[in-house]
Amino acid sequence: MQAIAIVGTGNISRAHIAGYGAFPQSCRIVALHDIVESRAHATKEQLGLDGADVVGLDELLARDDVDLVSVCTPPSSHKDLTIALLRSGKNVLVEKPMAPSVADCDQMLAAARESGRTLSVIAQNRFRNDLASVKEAIDSGLLGPVAHARVDSAWWRGLPYYDLDWRGTWESEGGGPTLNHAIHHVDLLLWMLGYPERATAVMKNAWHDNSEVEDLSVALLEWERTIATLTASVVHHGEEQAFAVQGRDAAVSQPWSVRAERSQPNGFPAAGGNPDLVAAIEARVAERAPLQHEGHTGQIGDVLAALREGRAPAITGEDGRRTVEVVTAIYQAAIEQRPVDLPLAASSPWYTGEALLAKAPRYHVKTGSVASQEGDITLGGSPDPTR
Ligand SMILES: NC(=O)c1ccc[n+]([C@@H]2O[C@H](COP(=O)([O-])OP(=O)(O)OC[C@H]3O[C@@H](n4cnc5c(N)ncnc54)[C@H](O)[C@@H]3O)[C@@H](O)[C@H]2O)c1
Repeated sequence: MQAIAIVGTGNISRAHIAGYGAFPQSCRIVALHDIVESRAHATKEQLGLDGADVVGLDELLARDDVDLVSVCTPPSSHKDLTIALLRSGKNVLVEKPMAPSVADCDQMLAAARESGRTLSVIAQNRFRNDLASVKEAIDSGLLGPVAHARVDSAWWRGLPYYDLDWRGTWESEGGGPTLNHAIHHVDLLLWMLGYPERATAVMKNAWHDNSEVEDLSVALLEWERTIATLTASVVHHGEEQAFAVQGRDAAVSQPWSVRAERSQPNGFPAAGGNPDLVAAIEARVAERAPLQHEGHTGQIGDVLAALREGRAPAITGEDGRRTVEVVTAIYQAAIEQRPVDLPLAASSPWYTGEALLAKAPRYHVKTGSVASQEGDITLGGSPDPTR
């Protein structure tokens, strides 16, 4: 039985608590910590976590009966909390984005190595059947080499979204939707297509006037023979997220569809396309065993199993770092208005986050700020349970 602690008991902690709750044979939540203690007490009461103690950070660090800690606090606090927890002997599952700078991520990775503990970073969309089907189709080779990916990390957030105290500043949130929302899609791109060579980007703040950071960016990522367009937005009504991949022989996308052209002698597409290839891709994807658990619960199940089995989790700290590095290159490209090669050099001021803080446009001055907000949160387009 693994003992779990939750640090930061706000919105996303609910997804972690529900995730651990799906594995009652493997784990139990024994401690809750929030810098605002009353929030930890409220979470304990609302969710009936009778077996969990509300503890201070020092008490949590001193406890030797805690195996795994979910860090569910704002991005700028991830580094210090994660390092302290790893050094105190805990394994850590930290929310995305891993940290606002690549240098911070590297310090977290060093603490994991030195302590011999496991560090995983949340990227729960890898545990979605619809996106796993896209990956299955790419990995099958049936699409041929991938030429293009169209990725829409399209979200909608009303103006009050940026009123929350830690959002809407480069220092505390680390950026806008490019870092905080599209990081999920960057993770998917890297998972499916590998690490890109270059980023080009533009960004704006279109509507959100209580925020320093962008609310919209469009980036191009390049591989040797592949281009991806990545839109990161909190201005999209309907939140129509998409991940569409064009291979040489066929295309697949989420929401799920498969298309395959066949050439006429003159190179124009033949009527009816290539139904045999479409059927082969559909059959291949149908053979994939569905994930038992999706989203946060899926990733939490994997981390618990990884700790039991003494293996690395499916999503490692290195994966989290790579996504932050690509997002940093997108910001550098947008701000310096030029293509940026990847990986970033450790000597670059963008690597440390210094350049971002010094050069990022402050689109608006953040004037209003509230400590908490009412309302439900949503975690992106709902998975299609059939794929
Ligand atoms: N994976 C996802 O889909 C997803 C969705 C939403 C948020 N998130 C991420 O989760 C993290 C938290 O977001 P949220 O929406 O839950 O925020 P939130 O403001 O609702 O909750 C954060 C909680 O952390 C507490 N806190 C702040 N600093 C702390 C510290 N130093 N020590 C202990 N507690 C501290 C706050 O008091 C608050 O209760 C962010 O990194 C965010 O990007 C991920």
